[in-house]
Amino acid sequence: MPNTNAYILGTGRSYPEGVITNADLEKMVETSDEWITTRTGIKQRHKAAGGEYTSLFAVRAARQAIEKARIDASDIDLIICATVTPDQILPATGCLIQAELGAHRAAAFDLVAACSGFLYGLTLANQMIRSDQSRYALVIGAEILTQYVDYTDRGTCVIFGDGAGAAVLGQTTGERGILSSRIRSDGRFAEQLFSPGGGTRLPATAETLSDGMHFFKMRGNELFKVAVRSMTEVSTEVLSEAGYKPEDIKLFVPHQANQRITDAVADRLGVEESKVYSNIAMHGNTSSASIPIALDECVEAGTIKEGDLVLMASFGGGATWGAVLTRW
Ligand code: COA
Repeated sequence: MPNTNAYILGTGRSYPEGVITNADLEKMVETSDEWITTRTGIKQRHKAAGGEYTSLFAVRAARQAIEKARIDASDIDLIICATVTPDQILPATGCLIQAELGAHRAAAFDLVAACSGFLYGLTLANQMIRSDQSRYALVIGAEILTQYVDYTDRGTCVIFGDGAGAAVLGQTTGERGILSSRIRSDGRFAEQLFSPGGGTRLPATAETLSDGMHFFKMRGNELFKVAVRSMTEVSTEVLSEAGYKPEDIKLFVPHQANQRITDAVADRLGVEESKVYSNIAMHGNTSSASIPIALDECVEAGTIKEGDLVLMASFGGGATWGAVLTRW
């Protein structure tokens, strides 16, 4: 019997209408459009309004993915919501999404792997599908990061934006689907990007809030170097495991962290610029949402077509990283 494989049947994306431009940030902190553009490639990022929450955008993205996959929400038996900005501590945002979609047959949960969350989710869903424990899996990356951004800290406030992306995976026995994937982490880098307050270690109090302990703290410079090294290594691993070379890739869709990280990884891998997808100018870094948003944009624009070899790679807080190689 041929091996069962998992492939992406449909994608979707959604983000808030509100936008913060570099010009807006120039009025908030000592920065400039020129600095932000040359150091990050970002021109604007979406920002949720008061009353907008993570699952709102996740559900919109998921509905599109389900429609494009031509299945019914009740066919889904696995929902993985990758997020570091859940609607609330309990229950999982995945369960709230499940209820909203009417996907009552699914097992639903949240996955915390920061910007690598979507690729962690794809990797788990792939294994569930390959082992026949799941037929249709919904993997979502959804974040409202701007609620954890300190708009007096110029080192972080220029980077992050909000949004959600989703993908429905199904079974195939054909020559398509996820060919290889790897996920990795190293907790020794935990303090390169973290939010110290609000958990059990430093519970939320009036004081932790006024001290801004719930905001993201980032050592951008250190993180940059680890991101480039680990994304390059893990991408090389998945390519060689599947028996491909960088020149075989039709499209490289990296996590949109910083244009300079993307450029450095592509350069080290030897992937030519025309094959590297970037939307960071319009969205900033949306953490777990960045890859599924990018995939949906590519499918819609016809940049990804059936049969294309697509490499995805990510790096995020934790530190976490991973890569997935798929035949679309
Ligand atoms: N505007 C103007 N100046 C800024 C600034 C801003 N928004 N942010 C930082 N600076 C200043 C710093 O204060 C520093 O000034 P100093 O030399 O007087 O001390 C100078 O710019 C250089 O800071 P540095 O942190 O070394 O800059 P950088 O070239 O590393 O760029 C980042 C900063 C954050 C853009 C970059 O490190 C980065 O993108 N890192 C990865 C971030 C990331 O991807 N995070 C998510 C991971 S998934």
